[in-house]
Amino acid sequence: MTDRLRIGLIGAGQHGRYLSPFLREAGEVELVAAADPSEEARGRAVRECGYGSAYAGYAEMLAREALDAVLVAAPHHLLAPACQAALARGCHVFVEKPMALNAAEGRQVVAAAEAAGKTLMVGYCLRFNQVRLALKRLVDEGTLGEISAVVCGKGSKPWPGWLQRPDLGGGQMMFLGSHLIDQVFWLLGKPAEQVYAEMTLAATGVDETSAFTVRLAGGIRAEFLVSQAVGVGYDFVEVYGQGGRARAEWPSMLLTVHSSLVPAYQNPATIRVLGDSHKPMYVAELAEFLAAVREGRAAAVDGKEAVRALAVIDAVFASARAGQPIALGQG
Ligand SMILES: NC(=O)c1ccc[n+]([C@@H]2O[C@H](COP(=O)([O-])OP(=O)(O)OC[C@H]3O[C@@H](n4cnc5c(N)ncnc54)[C@H](O)[C@@H]3O)[C@@H](O)[C@H]2O)c1
Repeated sequence: MTDRLRIGLIGAGQHGRYLSPFLREAGEVELVAAADPSEEARGRAVRECGYGSAYAGYAEMLAREALDAVLVAAPHHLLAPACQAALARGCHVFVEKPMALNAAEGRQVVAAAEAAGKTLMVGYCLRFNQVRLALKRLVDEGTLGEISAVVCGKGSKPWPGWLQRPDLGGGQMMFLGSHLIDQVFWLLGKPAEQVYAEMTLAATGVDETSAFTVRLAGGIRAEFLVSQAVGVGYDFVEVYGQGGRARAEWPSMLLTVHSSLVPAYQNPATIRVLGDSHKPMYVAELAEFLAAVREGRAAAVDGKEAVRALAVIDAVFASARAGQPIALGQG
């Protein structure tokens, strides 16, 4: 490996181009090549992000360029195949969420990373956001006492393009619900035992609004509302415990704490966590990926954690179809 990690991009759309300059801030990298069938997208990757060359297909890029690592930011149905192709060429991989279309496909990506002996990290960026890190500290330090429940939501207006195509992995559960499920697992550190869901479909056939309960080990209940039928973006996680409650909103960065266990929080207190709500978390997640690659270790958000979120998404769809709770197996 050279001093500067040689990076390739698969999928030079909105998010791939957005993340690219942050790679430079996160570590010593050379942006070698970008692959995208859209001439406009790959041209912008070269002109605006500084990639050295561009390819219409990622197979050709992987075959011709000597890359240390690849960033995958393509439509959801392409995430797993692109990861597998990059891993097979000996690249470390940073892949956007949800990493695959379902848990079974996700497990194949994890197996490919293990077989290749390469780092695989998934872009659950909100784990690196300061308002959510503050919420996690409150949970970990016992400010809320023993945790009993979570209420959370994430959503927006309807998205255009491939996000309205069921065959391309569109829908709000895959796009935003995956983040929220990962947040709850990360905050509480408990496995899921059961999922019970109701879902409304959009006219396009993708999920529009999903209301679901995930029962976690220890009897903790997490209530989720994931929708694309809301006129504004929303993202909140509120954790309840025997000692109090705390709520973290993004991107407003508002944190509300009310606890009978800590004198400073006897009355509800709301603070605004300072700092930019977006850029630092993306730089931090990419810095973690580059450090994991250099140190030859697993990254903070590995593929198995993405599979865990995908298993819940699978169960949300299955429960909504069956009208019954779905039990989750181990792993
Ligand atoms: N973590 C976050 O904050 C965040 C935010 C937005 C999007 N995302 C994720 O990023 C990924 C991409 O989403 P987006 O919003 O950038 O979508 P997008 O539609 O803007 O970009 C996707 C790009 O992939 C390209 N593409 C299609 N087929 C391809 C192929 N065979 N090979 C290479 N590229 C191909 C498209 O031409 C397009 O340019 C998704 O996984 C999405 O969930 C994450």
